[in-house]
Amino acid sequence: MASLKGRDLLKLLDFTTEEILHLLDLSHQLKKLKHEGVPHRFFEGRNIVLLFEKTSTRTRCSFEVAGYDLGMGVTFLDPASSQVSKKESIADTARVLSRFYDGIEYRGFAQSIVEELAEYADCPVWNGLTNEWHPTQMIADIMTMQENFGMDLRGRTLVFMGDARNNVANSLMVVCAKLGINFVACGPAENQPEAWLIETCTKIAAENGSTVVVTDDVEKGCAGADAIYTDVWVSMGEPDEVWEQRIASLSPYQVNARVMELAGPDAIFLHCLPSFHDTNTVIGARIAEQFGINEMEVTNEVFESEQSRVFDEAENRMHAIKAVIYATMSDEPLSD
Ligand code: CP
Ligand code: NVA
Repeated sequence: MASLKGRDLLKLLDFTTEEILHLLDLSHQLKKLKHEGVPHRFFEGRNIVLLFEKTSTRTRCSFEVAGYDLGMGVTFLDPASSQVSKKESIADTARVLSRFYDGIEYRGFAQSIVEELAEYADCPVWNGLTNEWHPTQMIADIMTMQENFGMDLRGRTLVFMGDARNNVANSLMVVCAKLGINFVACGPAENQPEAWLIETCTKIAAENGSTVVVTDDVEKGCAGADAIYTDVWVSMGEPDEVWEQRIASLSPYQVNARVMELAGPDAIFLHCLPSFHDTNTVIGARIAEQFGINEMEVTNEVFESEQSRVFDEAENRMHAIKAVIYATMSDEPLSD
């Protein structure tokens, strides 16, 4: 496999199966080093910048901790505290930041923004979530599946429940197709993935011996699944007005005890987080007051259950992001 040094990570459609497996292997190796307390400050003297136009806990902290663990300096920037967007274009920002930094992370709105940043930057650019894709999340999610089912996931089945055309669902469809994992998008017609993506992923999946199924039938979709995955019903950047309609159309696709029963006792529950599984958040409390529901995309019972792996998955974000940084900044094999 050719080195990934100098490559951007904008979306997983740009990466081969072998390259994704390489990032996964590196993630596991780096997790081991971290857990064993082995220092891995491979990039002393280098610096990265994290540009966030949307809020974040996991992605920001993962890039920061990964950067520090690798010995690097890390700068956080947002539009409120910098010139980005308001006074300086993406193209100019990219050219300025390239003079200071060895890598740029971007979280924000249209995929075209991160693509433009990558076009003008002369260092690796990493997509930390756009409206369309969330590639670093995928490495952590698949890593979590590997920890539960073994490294070879071919023939396993992952079901995404709910808003099956958001950034996370789109990305899961791609990564599953690339790795030969059967993917099921389970949601109402208006929340199903775009036709071109279904077609593209179906072809990729067939090459890797797996399938893509899109259904509005919960029983059919979830029966025998290895992993049940869900995400918030309204993503960052969407207007508050859509809540009412989403609650009405997506409630039948809530991950609850019945869904986990359909999947079976060995199935695991995954969620990229943050999650509305109770009313202990500002939005959760407001929705409870407005619409009379205390749980949304997943019940508290499933979230807190033995089958839930959401905190392993959250931890894996950091190891996976460290692997992405390592692979795109170095062509030295990692020796542990
Ligand atoms: N899963 C995820 O991207 O979380 P944050 O929004 O907290 O970064
Ligand atoms: N679909 C969610 C993912 C958050 C990590 C959003 O874009 O808000």
